[in-house]
Amino acid sequence: MTTDSYEMELILRNLNPIDFHSQSVLVTGGAGFLGSWLCESLLNLGAAVLCMDNFASGREENIQHLKKRHGFSFLFQDVSEKFTIENNVDFVFHLASRASPLEFTDHPLEILKSNTVGTMNALEIAKQNNAVFLFTSTSEVYGDGNIFPTPETYHGNVNPVGIRGCYDEAKRAGEALCMAYHRQYGTDARIVRIFNTYGPRMRSDGIYGRVIPRFITQAMNGDNLTIFGDGSQTRSFCYVTDQVRGLIRFISGDDLGGTVINIGNPVEVSIQHLAQTIIRLLSSRSGIEFLPLPPDDPKRRLPDITRAREKLGWSPEISLEEGLKRLIAEKRGKNSENE
Ligand SMILES: NC(=O)c1ccc[n+]([C@@H]2O[C@H](COP(=O)([O-])OP(=O)(O)OC[C@H]3O[C@@H](n4cnc5c(N)ncnc54)[C@H](O)[C@@H]3O)[C@@H](O)[C@H]2O)c1
Repeated sequence: MTTDSYEMELILRNLNPIDFHSQSVLVTGGAGFLGSWLCESLLNLGAAVLCMDNFASGREENIQHLKKRHGFSFLFQDVSEKFTIENNVDFVFHLASRASPLEFTDHPLEILKSNTVGTMNALEIAKQNNAVFLFTSTSEVYGDGNIFPTPETYHGNVNPVGIRGCYDEAKRAGEALCMAYHRQYGTDARIVRIFNTYGPRMRSDGIYGRVIPRFITQAMNGDNLTIFGDGSQTRSFCYVTDQVRGLIRFISGDDLGGTVINIGNPVEVSIQHLAQTIIRLLSSRSGIEFLPLPPDDPKRRLPDITRAREKLGWSPEISLEEGLKRLIAEKRGKNSENE
């Protein structure tokens, strides 16, 4: 079985195809890491999928294999520009936004626009179609918090004028927009706060590289793994199959309009431990190099997933070690294809 087909099996396990049969779904940011898994899963559940993207950080190769599939269509569109769609939709997943911390320096206005103006544009589509809307917010709305595990009721500790402000505050404004549409127009808007998620199709190149794909690439190349700070800061890492299953469960659940839910893995690891684990799994000779910690880098990330368990019957199934092994296998496969 190929990596992708096993991943798909993990996502679709325990999902109800009846929820999406003959339904139309718009996925903004559908050519990205999470968006492309979502588009593919929804097609497999019997939905017609309109994937919208401008390839800001997504890649055509993520959706190439879907282009031939019955029910799939693609719209090249910047979500921050006003847009219309030809057919009705029943569900809108709004993912379009650059999301890598290293992009916060180069594209702050674009990030602010896609999560505010873009969220409003996508909410308008949901309102016009009476569709269920899911906004992919982030654990970053909690900023450098002080309650762990962090429940959805925690209001956060965010620096609006710091380098991360363009992302954190844009997501917070996006959440406020969802609630305004929900309260003022009765739009069935839902908000998921995604905690770090990793897996195949995540970019490891240049400024897009987030910590796990970056460490794996560095370890495979025998380069030092670069840690910002002393590596004692913690994160919790959710494998993509668990995340995508959670997103689909959330949008298809009953009576969840106006609800906020954390989706992430509640196992906390330090970045130092992550680096050592990756070096061990790859039997790499790489060392570790410590670089200055960027400003406002959160010290801990740990979701309280009680609400996801209770309202969605969701909890993660894939451990960090298993997920890392699967991602390493995918990267090794790609490398050997390129040789
Ligand atoms: N992966 C994570 O760990 C994580 C964590 C928290 C939140 N999120 C959120 O989930 C969503 C998807 O993230 P991802 O990890 O798949 O990132 P990604 O960069 O792979 O995907 C984002 C997609 O949005 C597209 N996009 C960006 N700006 C756009 C615009 N103006 N118009 C149209 N398309 C645009 C990109 O081209 C890309 O395909 C993002 O909103 C992100 O903030 C992700």
